[in-house]
Amino acid sequence: MEILGIDIGGTGIKGAVVNTDTGEMTTERFRLPTPEKARPEEVAATVKELVAHFNYHGPVGTGFPAVVQKGVVRTAANIHKTWIGLDASSLFSEATGCPFYVVNDADAAGLAEMSFGAGRGQMGVVMMITIGTGIGTALFVDGILVPNTELGHIEIRGKDAETRSSDAARQRKRLSWQAWAKRLNEHLERLENLFWPDLFILGGGVSKSADKFVPYFNLRTRVVIAQLLNQAGIVGAALYARTKFS
Ligand code: BGC
Repeated sequence: MEILGIDIGGTGIKGAVVNTDTGEMTTERFRLPTPEKARPEEVAATVKELVAHFNYHGPVGTGFPAVVQKGVVRTAANIHKTWIGLDASSLFSEATGCPFYVVNDADAAGLAEMSFGAGRGQMGVVMMITIGTGIGTALFVDGILVPNTELGHIEIRGKDAETRSSDAARQRKRLSWQAWAKRLNEHLERLENLFWPDLFILGGGVSKSADKFVPYFNLRTRVVIAQLLNQAGIVGAALYARTKFS
């Protein structure tokens, strides 16, 4: 089935039509900048523009950078606070006339990697980590997703961990790759001691530069780099809609 997948991120809102049987995008990826404050009405207007660009009328899957339960946004670490309690699925459906299925962005990326990327066929405990404006996590047990794990927000050295180890933190503090790798290693080490994963999959834009920081890691758990790179969020969102739409 062909489904439009959308990935709402801190800086960009990206979409493409995805063949959910193969995980391939059947159109070019289209990107619009995320409106400055990422307020609900503005984001909905951008989503509407994106759907119109594809002249698309079917079900839409959307990755969203927050806890999402049955379409309702529950947290707002890097988005406007007025999202909390809002039914994002209904908001986008009303704006576009298409049925929307909204899922946490890291969970979407994890679904794509488990089906078509670095996690394909991996049993046991797999943890996908997306590194960007925030740190997103997706936990899989024998291929089944445990949604909304939010392990980017554990406390490390008295701080919300993602404010030290995200890619945004690396850029903001102008950290060297080695200094940042040390912070990320500390975060991952904490997660491996809590969950004993069999595999970490690292995604997000910065995973393209994995050779600059992964060599500094000192972890027990095997680390691999996501294979779908910046397509994972879009592909996974479409896969999510596929499972919900009937
Ligand atoms: C949010 C998560 C999201 C992650 C990556 C975090 O700040 O709390 O829900 O998955 O950023 O966007």
